Order: sequence, then structure tokens, then C-alpha cells
Amino acid sequence: MENNSQLVNKINQLKEQRNAIILSHYYQRPEIQEVADFVGDSLELAKKAAVTEAEVIVFCGVHFMAESAKILSPDKIVLLPDLQAGCPMADMVDLESLKAKKAQMPGAVVVCYVNTSAEVKSESDIACTSANAVKIIDSIPKDQPILFIPDKNLGSYVAAKANRDNVTVWQGFCNTHDQLTKSQLLRVKEEHPQGVVLVHPECRPDIVEMADVVASTAGMLKYAEESQDKEFIVCTEVGILHQFKKRCPEKKFHIASEKMFCPNMKKTTLEKVYNALLAMEPRINVSEDIRKKALKSLELMIKIV
Ligand code: 13P
Ligand code: SF4
Repeated sequence: MENNSQLVNKINQLKEQRNAIILSHYYQRPEIQEVADFVGDSLELAKKAAVTEAEVIVFCGVHFMAESAKILSPDKIVLLPDLQAGCPMADMVDLESLKAKKAQMPGAVVVCYVNTSAEVKSESDIACTSANAVKIIDSIPKDQPILFIPDKNLGSYVAAKANRDNVTVWQGFCNTHDQLTKSQLLRVKEEHPQGVVLVHPECRPDIVEMADVVASTAGMLKYAEESQDKEFIVCTEVGILHQFKKRCPEKKFHIASEKMFCPNMKKTTLEKVYNALLAMEPRINVSEDIRKKALKSLELMIKIV
């Protein structure tokens, strides 16, 4: 068994040989964030994938993120080190059920959270991430009904923020975020009364109500870096603590619950990254027909934000 630094050296060598870039989400293991060329939230990662000059993208995240990279950069080889790294929330909406719902709502604009499959994106009008969802909703004429898929928590948050009562919200959710309860958060607030409460909008509405700041993962990091405050309570996946501590070593961060852990995000290991670069597998592919349609919803989003 090799140690991490040996593996990192081998990954870096192979990365150069393959002209590859390693992209990582903030929820990845610390050692993966460290080996990555770029760490970001869903929006930043999609944008980076769209403009990179590397020939190979090693995507350290979950399946829908790697698929978005392939949709935006079809000529690149996109590797997902563990094909089983999916997103249970993205699986809560499929093509057939979306088509059925659309048939019941003729004229509705379908806004899909980026946490969806390529097929589902291909049946949607515009994509969004947690960083830009309110702006995307605001870009749609007020009198036009919206179907927001699949996250009920993000959907109800953005409908309220954009002050719209014509948003129909799909009933999906992220178990990692949705399991956080008000009583758990109250307990952590009692232990750390000075803590500024940072909440990801995938959390339940009663948690969002208790937030000092509601933001995407990148938004939370930016806030903590720029703020005068010294202590924070973090309501999102625990992997982000690595970036908080790295960027603000003098500040204190408390996770709202140790259960805020995404097992899929943790499936990527250094060994799997190395094996993926060595074998140039597993690759993400999207059929050209689906890709072209899904691209429209992603490109429209990137144009707006
Ligand atoms: P962001 O990084 O875009 O805030 O998304 C969080 C998430 O749950 C990704 O799966
Ligand atoms: Fe999906 Fe939630 Fe994991 Fe993000 S944290 S990948 S939304 S299950």
C-alpha cells in the first residue's frame, strides 16, 4: 500500500503526461481537494470545465457534475474516478416523470437544478445552481409559471426570495442537508452563541429561517473570508471545513451536525484518481442528441450569470 505523498507524485506525473486537469468539489476528501488544480462549487466547476484547455478532465465530484463537464466540453475526455458516485437527489427526477409533469403544466418554464441527469436537463429550459438560482428565476417573466426540479428546499427558498407564487416545486431533496433539524441547530447555537449561521439552501425551510447567511458553498467561503466575524456554524456537507480552515486559519468553524456527510462525495480516493488517469477510465459519455439539448439549458444559465 502506497502512502498519500507517493500517490500524489504519481498522479501529478500522469496528469502532465495526459494533459489533464483535476477538478474537485468542496465536499471531496481533504487530500483530493489538495491534489486538485481547481476546487469550486457546482457553478465554478461547470464554468471551469467549459473553458479549460486540458485534454482530459478528472472530475472529483458526483456523476451529474462530470456529465455537465462533458456536455460543456464534448471534445474532452471526462473521467469520473468512481462511477458509483451519484447524487440521490438527482435520481429523484427522471425523464418520464418530468415529461408527465410537463404535460400537466403546458407553458411552464422548467428550471432544473444542476443536480440532475443530462436526460433531465435535455427536457428543461434553463439550469441553475444554488449560487445563481434566484437570478435565474428573476430572469423569467413574472407572469410565466415555473416548474422547479428536483429540490423542494431550494425551490421553495428561491420562490420566496424572488417573491413569486407561481413556482411549482418538485418534491426531491438532498438527504445530507434535509436531515438537519431545528433542534440540532439550536443546540449548536447554544454551544457557540457567537457563531454566524451559514446555511446551504438545500436545508429545510425552518433551518433557512435561522440563517444569518444563505449561500452556495462558494458563497459561504467568500462570506467567511470577507467578514469581520470570527466564529461560524456551518450548515452544509462536512468536507467544506477543509477549505474554511485553510482559507481562514484564525477563525473557528463548527459543523451543525456530523451527520452532514455525503457518502457519494467521499467515494473518490487518491487511489481511484490515480487508477482513472492510468487506465483513462471510467469515462463519462453523453449521446449527442441529449447533449445538444442539455447544452442549451446550461449555456443559457452561464449567459445569465
Ligand atoms: P454547491 O457547491 O453548488 O453549493 O452545491 C452543493 C451540492 O450539494 C452539490 O451537490
Ligand atoms: Fe447530492 Fe446532496 Fe451529495 Fe450534493 S450533498 S451530491 S445534493 S446527495
